[in-house]
Amino acid sequence: MNKIDGVSIEDLAQEFGSPLFAASARAIINNCHSFRTAFSAAYPRVEVAYSYKVNSVPALLGIIHGECAWAEAASGFEYDLARRMGVPGSSIVLNGPYKKMEELRKAVKEGALINADHMEEIDLLEEIAREEGGPIDIGIRVSMETGIDQMPDRFGFNIESGEAARAVERAAKNKLIRIAGLHVHLTSYIVEPHGEGGMPAKHVRLIWPKDPGAYRKAAAEVMRFSIAMRERFGVVMKYIDMGGGFPTVGSISPYVEAVTGPILAGFGKDDQPLLILEPGRAIVSDTVHLITTVVAVKELRAGVRAVVVDSGINILPTSFWKFQDIECAEERGGGLREATVYGPLDDLLSG
Ligand SMILES: Cc1ncc(COP(=O)(O)O)c(C=O)c1O
Repeated sequence: MNKIDGVSIEDLAQEFGSPLFAASARAIINNCHSFRTAFSAAYPRVEVAYSYKVNSVPALLGIIHGECAWAEAASGFEYDLARRMGVPGSSIVLNGPYKKMEELRKAVKEGALINADHMEEIDLLEEIAREEGGPIDIGIRVSMETGIDQMPDRFGFNIESGEAARAVERAAKNKLIRIAGLHVHLTSYIVEPHGEGGMPAKHVRLIWPKDPGAYRKAAAEVMRFSIAMRERFGVVMKYIDMGGGFPTVGSISPYVEAVTGPILAGFGKDDQPLLILEPGRAIVSDTVHLITTVVAVKELRAGVRAVVVDSGINILPTSFWKFQDIECAEERGGGLREATVYGPLDDLLSG
């Protein structure tokens, strides 16, 4: 690979210096467009809320919002950034396990879709409803068994334990908030112990994406729960948010079917909820490149080579445990050999 969006990597390094992060606007636009159209072709009402936590560089957000209009914020900082990017409150999904009172007040005033994580947050939202003098619509985050064998899913209200139904029942009884949506995010990737010896990346198996079957189970469970809540409390879900965790767009179709199949089957044509998706990695993971320059090559011992580059692990900390694809921007000849790549810890604050 020697060009990004038709611009020579050599020229970029000359102009802006090395090391340098460079993103492909074309790839971002293509990913957003393909992701949105894949889901829209299968389901009539879809909104794509890009997950700010995954990469919130404003220049990239500007490109993303050309295609994916909504934003998913997990903090007050991300919410304010989305507003500064021109996203109206009514197109922001506010998630996260801790939302401060003043952040909730602002989000309610601006019509954001707030997904509550726990009963204490419902206390705060009821207080805001009292201040406002009327009921407010919110969503709740729900968790359920989907066969993903990692840590217990700690976010939101658990369906199997009855906690999610208790939240809906409380809202129906108190009439200060109305549960208008359900949110589920099946975590982004799963890690499991693997192999032995060598560097940390050799000890970790990173599973991404998860099997589409987990999405099918989650969508079916959310559906079943929605129908049960309508029958028990007369609560009608206006939106179902299936979160993120999706693969790059080339492999998206089984996930589209897994998510939309159960929802289409469970709702009639006239009461289909809005389907919200919150991709992060699917939009940006294959679009951003670290350009770095080889400054030295040495033999550590027979057959073991090291390559010194001008960037350190502190600007790409995940490479400690996640293998990164490394490509030469310039063909220099010679055979391929495994090598250890390392460099100086860079000063992140200057420049
Ligand atoms: C609630 C929520 N939505 C969406 C995402 C984006 O996930 P991904 O980058 O795997 O699509 C995350 C990431 O952690 C998240 O926590």
